[in-house]
Amino acid sequence: MKKQLEEILAKALSEVDTAADEPTLKAAQVAYLGKKGALTAILRGMGGLTPEERPVIGALANEVREKIEAAVGAKLSDIKAKELEARLAKERVDITLPANSKKPGRLHPLSQVEKELSDIFVGMGFTIAEGPEVELAYNNFDALNAPADHPSRDFQDTFYISPEVLLRTQTSPVQIRAMQGKQPPIRIISPGRVYRCDEVDGTHSPMFHQLEGLVVGKDISLADLKGTLEQFAKIYFGEETRTRLRPHNFPFTEPSAEVDVSCFVCGGKGCRLCKGEGWIEILGAGMVHPHVLENCGIDPEIYSGFAFGVGLERVVMIKYGIDDMRHLYENDLRFLSQF
Ligand code: DAH
Repeated sequence: MKKQLEEILAKALSEVDTAADEPTLKAAQVAYLGKKGALTAILRGMGGLTPEERPVIGALANEVREKIEAAVGAKLSDIKAKELEARLAKERVDITLPANSKKPGRLHPLSQVEKELSDIFVGMGFTIAEGPEVELAYNNFDALNAPADHPSRDFQDTFYISPEVLLRTQTSPVQIRAMQGKQPPIRIISPGRVYRCDEVDGTHSPMFHQLEGLVVGKDISLADLKGTLEQFAKIYFGEETRTRLRPHNFPFTEPSAEVDVSCFVCGGKGCRLCKGEGWIEILGAGMVHPHVLENCGIDPEIYSGFAFGVGLERVVMIKYGIDDMRHLYENDLRFLSQF
């Protein structure tokens, strides 16, 4: 029996030693130490031993069990350590690789200016109104008092989709949408894209941006228009900025004006930006024509209003000294990342 035990020990130790992974090791453990294992079978046969032999073989059997258990324990931690090592090697992060850095984007200068202007007017109590870029000719022209022979209505100048539908040539039709079916007080701005059949060059594009403003209420006067625009110019171009209105003609306003601001670079003395004028034209404006109010169901005997329209490209170009409008549309990051 002693010999059997020694054989078991030798076999068990060699099996444990060669086990390459945990399941193989566990199987070996069960094969020798388990309920139906080789060592257990020996212990069961001890009944046939003499009283003298029994403690000797019992002690030896215990020793064999302890040795096998110790070997299994040692092998198990060995296997675990090797597995961990392999996993660490596999999952290693190469910290010398260049980082996957995210370059944050930024708003296009046109969007920035649109937001800046909107913020100023929202601060004065205006709300933002929207209108479609594909618009009824009625809203873009007729309701705005543009007579049928007005030059801007020409097929050469406007993108018509049908005789009644076109790409809006200005943001002014949003005025009509803001007034139709509503009664004053009305105080809206409306930024957006507009379209005209223009050849692309340094100062023209078939698509550009405007921001429209409209105020209608009781006793709204030219003084309110001038005050509002002056306030806007001071906030946007600087406290010392002066504003002047030059008579002009728009079908939807009477009287109409073009509005200049004193040059914020030279302060009015004359420089390259203002082409020696001291003034820079920034927008069109006027008192809403009574016909326009009537067209929208608002009584011009009770209410009056003013309106204005700014070209956003123009404001961006003036503000940053950009000499060619095409830069704004070419999406060249070397240009755009400057803003
Ligand atoms: N719609 C005009 C244009 O595109 C700009 C304009 C002028 C808008 C006067 C207005 C205004 O609201 O009152 O040239």
